Amino acid sequence: MEAINTSIGFDKRLAEQDIRGSRAHASMLAAQGIISEEDSRAIQEGLSTILSEIESDQFVYSTVLEDIHMNIESRLNEIIGERAGRLHTARSRNDQVATDFKIWIRDQLDAADAAIKTLMWALIKQAESGVDWIMPGFTHLQTAQPVTWGHHMMAYVEMFGRDLSRVRGARERLNECPLGAAALAGTSFPIDRTFTANELGFNRPTRNSIDSVSDRDFALEFLGVASISAMHLSRLADELVIWSSAQFRFVQMSDRFSTGSSIMPQKRNPDAAELIRAKIGRILGANVGLITVMKGLPLAYSKDMQEDKEHVFDAADTWLLSLSAMEGLLCDMHVNHEILEAAAGSGFAIATDLADWLVRELKLPFRTAHHVTGQLVAQAERKGCDLHQLSLSEMQSVIPGITENVYDVLNLKYSVGSRDSYGGTAPEQVRRQIEDWKERLA
Ligand code: ARG
Repeated sequence: MEAINTSIGFDKRLAEQDIRGSRAHASMLAAQGIISEEDSRAIQEGLSTILSEIESDQFVYSTVLEDIHMNIESRLNEIIGERAGRLHTARSRNDQVATDFKIWIRDQLDAADAAIKTLMWALIKQAESGVDWIMPGFTHLQTAQPVTWGHHMMAYVEMFGRDLSRVRGARERLNECPLGAAALAGTSFPIDRTFTANELGFNRPTRNSIDSVSDRDFALEFLGVASISAMHLSRLADELVIWSSAQFRFVQMSDRFSTGSSIMPQKRNPDAAELIRAKIGRILGANVGLITVMKGLPLAYSKDMQEDKEHVFDAADTWLLSLSAMEGLLCDMHVNHEILEAAAGSGFAIATDLADWLVRELKLPFRTAHHVTGQLVAQAERKGCDLHQLSLSEMQSVIPGITENVYDVLNLKYSVGSRDSYGGTAPEQVRRQIEDWKERLA
């Protein structure tokens, strides 16, 4: 029983939050005249002593005492005697653990908020340094149209920007205080839940005591937000793995963020990026794990819910580590912009520009222009050259009306510069996106 029942091995991570919660509760009890000022003072001092014992690693955790709440309460009893028992007036471990866990997750959301912003600044810096570097844009990982490096980097800024907004939304919904819900039904003592909520930085008390002790939506939402964000990290990591390969050589990882091989001296393995790509598995696993714990539980509290913590702890550590590793990797990374540009020129990336020219200048319907361009591409392929290397007469044999002017659009700089629709790849547009995000993040 002890082996399956105990949670102190992991919920000791809630020690600081548990003490914060208890101190607020004791102050409220005293302010309401439920316990004496003297008892409250003794409790506060005892809890301070315990906090310093925990911080200096002197606190002795006991598995017999089951969890962090009992461990702290029992130590308080050793320090201040029987008066310690007054702290648990008008509360239960059910509302206590919900409060501790909310505070812990709120701290993690704040850390994630900062880490995402730092990562976004690193991406913005990358975007700024290569606002007009030309690279191939891909769909299906096939060369599609030329785009700018800045544009591609800013796409990730949009993604992490949505993560940031989800972090803030989750924090806002989480920020109601369950303390005072007691076991599930509330309490007969004249408590002031608004007082406790304010002390602990919550916006207000939760409205329904049954829901207060049975709700773990805030933990699930944390995992949901972390999952989406980890998916973004994984996609970026995946691109960096591909781009750093000898076949692409778009980027080169620094020595600090790559490793060599013990037998192949030429290798520079993108381990950090690969691990970031892999770590999403733990976060998604946690997400599935906890929602599975919750899905069949009757209201209100069930001991099943003790299984919420390890999932969230591991996911939080993994997410924050991945965010900061990605930031370091990006800051250190070298971009081979000549290789990017050379790659942008291959694979007929400017075929769409040719089709658009036929529509604009020869007034062909787009579908016809698309077909004609396909024939020109086939001709270039047969000749083993690029579109701009076809002679005018070769082009005219496919579409007689074509003129010398067509060569103006068959170059990369023109191609990216011309896509200046709102949100498009033209450097002017990308600069606008960068300015916009800088303002929003400042
Ligand atoms: N260790 C428990 C948990 O993490 C605390 C709540 C226990 N409540 C109870 N009535 N047994 O969920």
